[in-house]
Amino acid sequence: MNIEGKAHRTIWFENNSVKIIDQTKLPHHFIIKDLLTVKDSINAIKTMEVRGAPLIGTTAAYGLVLSIIENNDQTFLKKSSEDLIDSRPTAINLKWAVDRMMKKLSGVNSNEILKIALEEAKAIAEEDVEFCKNIGLNGLKIIEEIYKKKKDTVNILTHCNAGWLATIDWGTATSPIYHAHKKGIKVHVWVDETRPRNQGANLTSYELNEEGIPNTIIADNTGGILMQRGQVDMCIVGTDRTLSNGDVCNKIGTYLKALAAKDNNVPFYVALPSSTIDWSIKNSKDIPIEERDPAELSFVEGLDKNNKLQKILIYPQKSKSLNLAFDVTPAKYVTGLITEKGVCKASEKGLKELFK
Ligand code: MRU
Repeated sequence: MNIEGKAHRTIWFENNSVKIIDQTKLPHHFIIKDLLTVKDSINAIKTMEVRGAPLIGTTAAYGLVLSIIENNDQTFLKKSSEDLIDSRPTAINLKWAVDRMMKKLSGVNSNEILKIALEEAKAIAEEDVEFCKNIGLNGLKIIEEIYKKKKDTVNILTHCNAGWLATIDWGTATSPIYHAHKKGIKVHVWVDETRPRNQGANLTSYELNEEGIPNTIIADNTGGILMQRGQVDMCIVGTDRTLSNGDVCNKIGTYLKALAAKDNNVPFYVALPSSTIDWSIKNSKDIPIEERDPAELSFVEGLDKNNKLQKILIYPQKSKSLNLAFDVTPAKYVTGLITEKGVCKASEKGLKELFK
């Protein structure tokens, strides 16, 4: 998508290094950073310089390319793959991408290994772009239906950043919105701020602004009253792991929005590529929920009056805080799953009809 009118992807390979946009500096600074080693890739995922389920999967795939450049040895490669999988626990795309790479690379000792790794990492990235584009075209039909009935701006609420910045291009939840805007349908997005890291305010609003899409940032607790007032026509969110029964694990707070949507008869859609489906876990209680540093709640970052990025403490020094990064929305609250293959019910039957 565009930044200052120029099309960008979120990750690419150039001159033996992996280029990423450092998302911890957005929206205030647009910085392209080089990852040179597998350790750099692990660190970028852990510190959330790159984040969002599909993007961390692709970063891990390129991390294995860097691992081979550094040390072309199978023991080193295996250790790199394990460390990459451990770098963040919840998004299944990370393990999916590493497993896909290792299927091609395990046991390959020839000089061809680098070429094979690079081709596979690029294929993962290209496939994600294609899938996200198709998610957009499939979700567009839902927005078009609402627009035809309403004959006025469609108000869409989204949570966190399931946008271009969480993928390689287009985004998942944002892709139908970008496609609708390109088709001339009037859309407006309610952007949940998404505490504690503010991915909605810092990233979703930023990328929508750059594409000229009207949007308004709201505090995380505002969605309920907007729905009661009829100011939300639909919700579209992303997901880090969707179980085969249709339960959706996504950024903390998604569940509460789904409850409010149900109470107000607002359709609640989840957009995802098939790389986000976990076919193995049957019970959502078994999904590993990431618990991050409580300092992400107590410190906020922004520009000071001299335009310098500063972190400041906003909580009492002695207070404890808890930082769970994801929650699970049961399938019964999800109106539909928007995938690259079409829209289906959030159920085993719905998913299997499309994917098996
Ligand atoms: O912790 P983050 O910023 O990686 O969480 C991101 C989300 O929760 C997104 O909604 C999700 O990854 C969907 S990706 C298109």
